[in-house]
Amino acid sequence: MSTIVLAAFDDVALADHLADRLGAAAGEIESRRFPDEETYVRLLTPVADCDVILVGSLDRPDPKLARLLFLADAARDLGARKVGLVAPYLAYLRQDKRFKPGEAVTAPSFARVLSRAFDWLVTVDPHLHRYAALDEIYSVPATAMHAAPVVAQWIATRVARPLVVGPDRESEQWVAEVARAARAPYAVFEKARLGDTRVELRAPDLAPWRDRQPVLVDDVVSSGGTMIEALGLLARTGLPAATCVAVHALFAGDAQERLLAAGAREVATSDTIRHPSNRFSVLDRLADGVRAVSARTVQGRI
Ligand code: R5P
Repeated sequence: MSTIVLAAFDDVALADHLADRLGAAAGEIESRRFPDEETYVRLLTPVADCDVILVGSLDRPDPKLARLLFLADAARDLGARKVGLVAPYLAYLRQDKRFKPGEAVTAPSFARVLSRAFDWLVTVDPHLHRYAALDEIYSVPATAMHAAPVVAQWIATRVARPLVVGPDRESEQWVAEVARAARAPYAVFEKARLGDTRVELRAPDLAPWRDRQPVLVDDVVSSGGTMIEALGLLARTGLPAATCVAVHALFAGDAQERLLAAGAREVATSDTIRHPSNRFSVLDRLADGVRAVSARTVQGRI
């Protein structure tokens, strides 16, 4: 029985890299839109009796979802044994609660859709806020790998005497691990969200760290509002210009330019989402995650 890795979207290099790391075969698909914008997909590589892994980041997920679901369904229809998903960035985790009456709670809705389509999934640092783990909403095995070791290594080699700074309490889960691995102190701000792009931050006393280089670390930069506010707050404390580090480079609109204009020394992200700011790679972590899943498959636990 063999394993075939397919790029669900346009990131063929990512799928090839993963196939290479796993000693699996890289397969091919064809996809296009009909003139009326319905989606056409075709698996060019035979998948009967194979394990299929679909690979693709789910940033800007809405136009991608139809293709992903059709590919998974086609793979099963064509005889694939198991169909797994490697989504370096996993979408739809922010709405984990009904804040206003009548709102859709999209995190569990999306999880139900993907759990019906796939036998397992592997991702990197999902945005978990009110959930402790993905398996609270995913009914198939869902493995979260962590970028902290590669983030810490990048910081340790690039920034002298770093102070790792998390812009909000949620970020403490990443920031504490990064700081420990980079052998640096850390501080965490308090954040109140005022809207989709506006936040208010409060900093603890940073006076003991005046001789340190601040490095803001968060899981995602989306509108950039959080990091921009944090840069302003750090500047007012008299610390040197901060480096901004995020795992997932969502960067809505001109967020990266606005971060640099707000005084960021450098903006660095991982390659979960392809972007000019990518400085460190989590692909080996993803391969480790898939290997762990494969071991469970062999043991018959998936
Ligand atoms: C929030 O809880 C996250 O960890 C990020 O801080 C947030 O999603 C970043 O979003 P934005 O760039 O739009 O402020």
